Amino acid sequence: MSILITGGAGFIGSHTCVEMLSAGRDIVVIDNFSNASPKVYERVKTITGKDFPLIECDIRDEAKLDEVFAAHKIDAVIHFAGLKAVGESCRMPVEYYDNNVGGTVTLLKSMKKAGVKTIVFSSSATVYGSENPVPFREDMKTGGTTNPYGTTKYFIEIILQDLVKADPEWSVCLLRYFNPIGAHASGLIGEAPNGIPNNLMPYIAQVAVGKREKLSVFGNDYNTPDGTGVRDYIHVVDLAKGHLYACDRALSVKGCEIYNLGTGNGVSVLELITAFEQASGVKIPYVIAPRRPGDIDASYADVTKANTVLGWKAELNAFDACRDTWNWQKKNPNGYDD
Ligand code: NAD
Ligand code: UD1
Repeated sequence: MSILITGGAGFIGSHTCVEMLSAGRDIVVIDNFSNASPKVYERVKTITGKDFPLIECDIRDEAKLDEVFAAHKIDAVIHFAGLKAVGESCRMPVEYYDNNVGGTVTLLKSMKKAGVKTIVFSSSATVYGSENPVPFREDMKTGGTTNPYGTTKYFIEIILQDLVKADPEWSVCLLRYFNPIGAHASGLIGEAPNGIPNNLMPYIAQVAVGKREKLSVFGNDYNTPDGTGVRDYIHVVDLAKGHLYACDRALSVKGCEIYNLGTGNGVSVLELITAFEQASGVKIPYVIAPRRPGDIDASYADVTKANTVLGWKAELNAFDACRDTWNWQKKNPNGYDD
């Protein structure tokens, strides 16, 4: 029994490979390396002491996917592959719909042919839009996304829900991630953004290591305790472990289930800066800058469902994530290019 992991060379995918292998699961990984390095393979092997197939394959290539399903006995798919940069998605919406939505449809066609009807999908808290009160609960209204990236996640959720309605043999698990940060404690794998980071944690880490001069804090007039944006930062290792629980659950229960994967705690931009300074001993210079279009005041999860139904709970906190991010960043200032 093997689990196919799409986009498994990426940030969350590589950490999930480690957790799956460490738990004794067999995995087959595909990635087109559009946002990942093949070096991840050796690093995951070093951490786990286990080997696995890593195949260069684009999820839009149906013939190649069919070959992968024919060559391996796959029971379920954990589907990470996708493009994820919000700003880029506004400039290149067609590429995002093609890659994320089109790629998922192609993957589903290939799965259906192979008789594999279990999928765990990487969705995002972004599907809650800007109208819901925090904490976000799985049964809240979704949609109202503010950028093509977020809309691809919303569309894919709908497609997967329709699939289950049409064929109750399918088992779908939609995981709505909050803000994944951190790195494996070994410092061998972590987040390696291309160019200037869009997200807060990798930006802070690059300021700390001297690659960027200072951080811009996007707005201090939000309706939050200190005026800066509040988010639910989840350690990527906790998040990766959540996939083990979700995959086991999807393999045993048919239908479509949705889970928030977060800590349930909101942390402000200024609090994250302080946590990073404490964890690293490095001062992070910052300036207050205008709000970033599309940002909301606060986003954090109600994690009751994941805690009670999946039996999964985040164990690490923002300080742990800052410590592990700093360890990764110090050892790999240029990501996998070092
Ligand atoms: P990532 O970019 O590090 O990983 C995605 C991987 O998919 C990369 O290795 C990339 O090379 C691969 N990929 C992209 N298009 C592909 C294609 N057509 N065929 C095959 N491989 C392809 O991103 P990540 O942070 O690890 O995110 C993984 C998933 O989780 C994504 O779907 C992302 O949208 C979702 N997600 C991420 C976050 C986050 O903050 N990181 C939050 C919510 C949801
Ligand atoms: C962003 C995306 C979201 C995506 C998520 C992936 C937007 C509007 N949303 O979420 O769709 O799923 O990334 O992780 O882009 N901040 C700064 N300075 C910076 C960077 C960020 O102050 O240089 C602030 C932001 O205003 C926000 C917080 O830090 O309050 C977190 O930002 P970020 O890491 O980009 O994540 P999100 O905006 O939550």
